[in-house]
Amino acid sequence: PALPPFQNEPPVDFTRPEARAAMSEALRVVRDQFGRFYPLVLNGREVATGVEFTSTDPGASETIVGRFAQARPLDARDAISIARERFGAWSATPAVDRASVLLKAASLMRAKRSTLSAWEVYECGKPWREADGDVAEAIDFCEFYAREMIRLAEGRHRDVPGETNAIERIARGVAAVIPPWNFPLAIPTGMTVAALVAGNTVVLKPSERSPRIALLLAEVLREAGLPEGVLTVLPGFGDVGKALVDDPRVNLIAFTGSRDVGLEINRKAAEPAPGQDHVKRVIAEMGGKNAIIVDDDSDLDEAVVGVLQSAFGYAGQKCSACSRVIVLDGIYDAFVGRLVDAARALPVGPADNPDTAVGPVIDAKARERIEGYKTIAEGEGDVVLSVDVGSLAARGNYVGPLIVAGVRPDARIAQEEVFGPVLAVLRACNLDEALRIANGTVYALTGGLYSRSPANIDHVKREFRVGNLYVNRPITGALVDRQPFGGFQLSGIGTKAGGTDYLLEFLLTRTITENT
Ligand code: NAD
Ligand code: ALA
Repeated sequence: PALPPFQNEPPVDFTRPEARAAMSEALRVVRDQFGRFYPLVLNGREVATGVEFTSTDPGASETIVGRFAQARPLDARDAISIARERFGAWSATPAVDRASVLLKAASLMRAKRSTLSAWEVYECGKPWREADGDVAEAIDFCEFYAREMIRLAEGRHRDVPGETNAIERIARGVAAVIPPWNFPLAIPTGMTVAALVAGNTVVLKPSERSPRIALLLAEVLREAGLPEGVLTVLPGFGDVGKALVDDPRVNLIAFTGSRDVGLEINRKAAEPAPGQDHVKRVIAEMGGKNAIIVDDDSDLDEAVVGVLQSAFGYAGQKCSACSRVIVLDGIYDAFVGRLVDAARALPVGPADNPDTAVGPVIDAKARERIEGYKTIAEGEGDVVLSVDVGSLAARGNYVGPLIVAGVRPDARIAQEEVFGPVLAVLRACNLDEALRIANGTVYALTGGLYSRSPANIDHVKREFRVGNLYVNRPITGALVDRQPFGGFQLSGIGTKAGGTDYLLEFLLTRTITENT
């Protein structure tokens, strides 16, 4: 039977007592599992790697969430061998059967929704709503790509008298999937299930900061019927990612992460190794330095809320986060005053507290990097808000929101991705200057405008060069299908996760012509 049309998974309503109780219980269950050891599993068998690493709670640095056998480059090579062996059978599995694995995985994730969110709270310091949103997006990817593959598998026929032409899609081969930690379920799920449903076999090297959640994804897919060896997860570090990228038997690399690593992968993948018989396809989604323009006729209540949510949601640790707000001269002082007052009221605290708006940052290294940018900000503008985290500092990796005003467009704080709760405010004398500033970085991921002027909205729609532009709303939280997500320039190669073109990146196209 035909599937019902795709619909986005609604967020859990945590104002409902039952939803709050379910989440509290899931948090308790997850806490009971802290500190467990997870072996490396290759082809259904445990492999002793001789070395382990830990994943800790960003908000309580002493708490070990899990211990993991650390994969090595040689494990990457073994995993690729397994993936190559499984490729023939998996790519020959009818697309509709591959899609049904994704649909089953979506329903399993729905059933485990609070548990998956609870792991995100503790492994990545995601506050409740952000964690729930990430799980919802993972479900959406499964549901959406399942439907997309069924559609693409129909192929295209273009027949003329005496000739038939069939255009069909086939899998590329072995896919290496290398995600970041900040959307610890949604991004690994999106890249992995896109590759799988297209018929590729996958070696997933999750971020070393979110290995537990990646293993949960593998569990769900196995339970959903994915055959052994079609997906291998290698908890480990960049050396394992590098081994995957360098291996001539890998056909496709789906990477999301920092600009430097993405560019290195793109460069290395371009050079075929001796004996390699194909060009590796690279998907690389990278960073951003995203701006919101606040026009002088905008609704300031909406603009303040939208900028705060975009800048400080998940402590600014989103590629889509707003890290520059460009304010028109006429409302600059009024906007900055209200923004600072509202930001001061944001509750900073542990992610497992449902009232927390700004949780911890991912680890001590990130905290130090962000603190370094705070010092840079002091030298590059007027720090109009710097929230002191007080006693939280001794507990975990907390950084209070910082707003720096009067920043010049070429300042480091206005050009470099900070990936933390730091917002630069820039003044523009008119809309054209605001657009010049907004477009004046190497990135082009998300952007926004608050304005009530139809002419100005049209102008910004034409001139603001970003992959995802939002008008009169926050600039984070793209929804699968409704807002296909991804940037260009040094933010990405131009692919759109959650869009109708995405699966084509994971497929090859054959044209078969028969003279009849
Ligand atoms: P990162 O680049 O440090 O790590 C990403 C992944 O690459 C990890 O799994 C890591 O282990 C692996 N890796 C590291 N070195 C490698 C190497 N030499 N070869 C192969 N793999 C290697 O990024 P991160 O800190 O995990 O994530 C934050 C970054 O991701 C930010 O820049 C953010 O903007 C970006 N991001 C982009 C998007 C997007 O859709 N554009 C989404 C989320 C995050
Ligand atoms: N897709 C994520 C967002 O839109 C990064 O915030």
